[in-house]
Parts: sequence; C-alpha cells; structure tokens
Amino acid sequence: MAQQRASFGSKFGIIMAAAGSAVGLGNIWRFPIETGNNGGAAFLLVYMVAVVLLGVPLMLAEFFIGRYAHTNTAHAYKKLSSHPLWSNIGFIGVLGGSIILCYYVVVAGWVMKYFFLSVDGTLTSLYQPGNAANYESLFGNFVSNPWSPLLYMLVFVLTCHFAIASGVQKGIEKLSKIFMPALFVILVVLVIFSLFAPGAQAGLKFLFYPDFSKLTTSAMLSAISQAFYSLSLCMGCLCTYASYFGKDVNMVRSAVSISVIDALVAVMAGLIIFPAVFSSGIDPQSGPSLAFIALPAAFQSAFESVPIVSYVVSMLFYALLVLAALTSAMSLYEVPTAYIHERWNISRKTATMVVTAVCLLLGTVCSLSMGVLGDMKLFGKNFFDLCDYFTTTWMMPMSGILIAIFVGWVVKREIFINEVTNGGTLRPTGANIMLFLLRWIAPVLVLASFLAVLGVL
Ligand code: TRP
Repeated sequence: MAQQRASFGSKFGIIMAAAGSAVGLGNIWRFPIETGNNGGAAFLLVYMVAVVLLGVPLMLAEFFIGRYAHTNTAHAYKKLSSHPLWSNIGFIGVLGGSIILCYYVVVAGWVMKYFFLSVDGTLTSLYQPGNAANYESLFGNFVSNPWSPLLYMLVFVLTCHFAIASGVQKGIEKLSKIFMPALFVILVVLVIFSLFAPGAQAGLKFLFYPDFSKLTTSAMLSAISQAFYSLSLCMGCLCTYASYFGKDVNMVRSAVSISVIDALVAVMAGLIIFPAVFSSGIDPQSGPSLAFIALPAAFQSAFESVPIVSYVVSMLFYALLVLAALTSAMSLYEVPTAYIHERWNISRKTATMVVTAVCLLLGTVCSLSMGVLGDMKLFGKNFFDLCDYFTTTWMMPMSGILIAIFVGWVVKREIFINEVTNGGTLRPTGANIMLFLLRWIAPVLVLASFLAVLGVL
C-alpha cells in the first residue's frame, strides 16, 4: 500500500511556512544593501513592480506544479511533460537550491555569532563615536578565522537538520507558526525604535523619495533579481512546499498574501536600517558588510544617549536575522531532502542526513573561502561568491524563463485553470490574470534582464 505523503496541517501553517521561506536574509540583509547601492526609493519602486508582475505569477506557477504533481520538485515537472527541456526544470531547482543552501548557512552562522556578541555586550563595548574601525576588525578577524565561523555554521546546520528530520508538520510548520509571528513582533518594535532615532527623516527620505536619475538598467536588473531571491522563486522551494498543500487551498490568494508579507518585511527592514544608518552618518552604500560593520556602529550611535536602547536594538535585530534565516534555510533544505527521500525510497531521516553531510562539506569550503581558501578562485571569484553568482545570475533567471514558458504555453490551459480554481470551485479571474502575466510579461522581462546582465542587450 502506498504510504501517506506528508502534508501541511492548516492554511495558517501554509502561509507561515511559505512566508518563512520567502522572508529571510534576502529581505533584511540583501534588500537594504541593494537599495543602498541603487539609489533608494526608485529601486524600491521597480522592486515592487517586479514583485507584482513577475513574483506573484511565478510563485503561483510553482504552487500549481507542486500541488498538481504532488511530489518532489525534480519529479513534478516530469508529471506534466516528457520532453527533456521541460521535464528537467525541477533538477535545476534541486541543484540550485542545494547550492544556495551551502552559502546561506555560512551567513546564517555569522548572524548567530553576532546575536551572541550582542547579548554578551561585545557590540556595545566596541563602540567608538565617529568610526566603525573596531567593528571592521571584529568582522574581518571573525570571518577569516578558520574555526569560529565553522562552529556557528555547524550549530545552524544542526538546528535545520533536526527541524527537517522532524517532518513537514512537526518540524517546518510548527516552527514557522512560532517564528514568523515572533519575527513580526520584533520587526514592529524595531521600526518604532528606529523611527525615534535622531535624524531618522533622512533615512525615510532615502527610502521613500524616488530619484529617478539613479534608475540605471543595472539597478532595474538588480531589483528583478532581488525580487526573485527574496520570494524564494525558481529553486524548487515553493514547488516542494506546494506539494504538501491541501486541495482546498486558494493558491492565488496565498501567492498574493505571501508576496505582500515578504515585501512588507523588506520595507520594514529598510525602515529599521536606513534611519539608523543616516542618523549615524554612515554611508548607506557600504555593501555586504552593512549588517556586520556599519549597522552595529549605527545602532550604537543612533541611540548613544541611552545605551540600553542600543543594546536591546542590536540584540533584537540579530535575533530577527536568526529567525528569518532559519525558516528560509528550512525551505532550501526541504528541496533536496524530499527529492532524496522519494527518489531512493529511503526514510526522511536518512535523506536529511545525506543533505546535512553535503551541506556541511560544501558549507565548509564556502566558509573557508573567506579566509584560508581565499586564493582558490574560479572566474576571479572565491567559492562563496561563485555559489551566489552562479545561482542568482544564471540558474534563477534561466529557470524563471523556463517555468513561465512551460506553465504559460506548454501545459494545457485547462489543466492550469482547473488546478488553480480548485476544480472550478473558485472564480477563474485571478488564474486568468496570472496566466496572462506568465505568457506575455514574465518571459519577456526575465529574458531581457538576463540578456542585459550578460551584456548582450
Ligand atoms: N528567500 C530567502 C531570503 O529572502 C532565501 C531563499 C530561500 C531563496 N529559498 C530560496 C532564494 C530559493 C532563492 C531561491 O533570504
């Protein structure tokens, strides 16, 4: 007799798990960096447009495939087509999701370390008015040390391991239902604190006042890839989660809700970070080190007169990052786990162990490439940057174009409409609008941006 397949227990659990996948380091760490580098509000505007025109329809496309096929991502596409071009899209997800996971856990480890540094008061004690040099050396010494980052990565990976091994309902869903509301409460508290920082207005202006002269082609492309990354698209996460959805879930509504939550969290992260950054006079374009060098300094300086506030704000901020990273990493973990579990018919626990072993191995190389293995370069990039570059620049857009064309043009319209309207019980308007976007807008926009990144356009 066929074994009963895992499933989510409630609609709330589904939204929390999928929003947990979407809301991650991408929103709180990557989004402010990209916004800072690309001129603030104008970038935010393009990002929002990309979420609506590309993000929501592609998310729905992944939901459709996952729930229709009711199996892991690698096999899901095979149920809808036997042509190798389409049937293998799922493999891009399994491979890409696994690569992202391997560097994601490294950054998540740093975040954990910084949470502890905020709790034990190190971040507060290192503060020197007017410069971030202490934080710079703290971060530099930490990431280039061979052991310490590995230890934190290990702790993070083991946490994910136990969550995933516990199963879809008892692990992923249960934790997401606790972590996501907690994350939201912390966000609101931090936004309130940050808005009261002296000089917060400059930060708000930067985030909300669009300067269109900064809107270069490359800024637009960054906004599109940021939207993809932030919504966890094209790497199998949402397709895998959707394979655990019940047949009564309104997938259009879920895709819209999850995208709104994700964009809201990104804007709230901006509301926390930019007022603090501007109030302390730090350059918002300080790049990936923003969260680990500029921000600890900014939080201390923004609340200089009340040190306890800066202590609490830093601590809450890193707690927020840890929670966000955990729920996202869980979704990345689930993609190869579900595949191995079903492909080789081995238990979920054993499958999780395989994923953990590979993740630890490649994660170690990623982590060491920030220090002792820094000279090991391919195409001028270390292993860590290579993993990010290869997945976000190549695999995500390629898989995005394929998914949009596949669902928009190759799969029979009736199959899509029937699945998305839950067998005709929901109104088809939403499904039709999404199908239109998948057919005409998404492939063109993603292809154009892909070609532009390659310098062809
Ligand atoms: N969306 C997550 C974030 O914002 C990261 C993530 C999870 C992801 N799954 C993904 C990114 C799949 C790309 C593809 O941090």
